[in-house]
Amino acid sequence: MIKPDGVQRGLVGRIIQRIEEKGFKIVAMRLSVMDKERAEKHYAEHAGKPFYGDLVEFITSGPSVQMVVEGKGVISAIRKMNGATNPAEAAPGTIRGDFGIETGRNVIHGSDSPESAAREIALHFSDSEIFEYKRIDEPWLY
Ligand code: TYD
Ligand code: MG
Repeated sequence: MIKPDGVQRGLVGRIIQRIEEKGFKIVAMRLSVMDKERAEKHYAEHAGKPFYGDLVEFITSGPSVQMVVEGKGVISAIRKMNGATNPAEAAPGTIRGDFGIETGRNVIHGSDSPESAAREIALHFSDSEIFEYKRIDEPWLY
């Protein structure tokens, strides 16, 4: 998910370009303002933590881009491409390292495990919004 700060700063194209260039496949995508209920479910694992209220407020503050991305090792690869949670500590070359400064405005979210990916995909997309298609005819590209 490209968070509201990423959308507001016009980073959507550059972020999607990184995902596509890496060889991954976008199989679902939407621009929408997440409502509070959905945001609370999305970040349910953080309920009760000191930053939870601000996080939900920020995530619902404007349009974000929700995506389902497919490919070999995609979950850990996207997390690496996103960089450390605190952009000030994220390596240069990562999305957060290149585009962010503050933890509370860290541009992008990536699912952290197959279980959370499945949960988040089901939360944000219906089956009919997720597409199957062949990107290009190369077996090592997903
Ligand atoms: P977390 O799941 O720990 O990080 P990640 O996004 O890298 O999986 O936290 C979720 C989001 O909550 C994080 O992207 C930014 C926000 N957050 C804070 O605002 N303050 C904090 O101290 C932490 C740990 C996270
Ligand atoms: Mg997380």
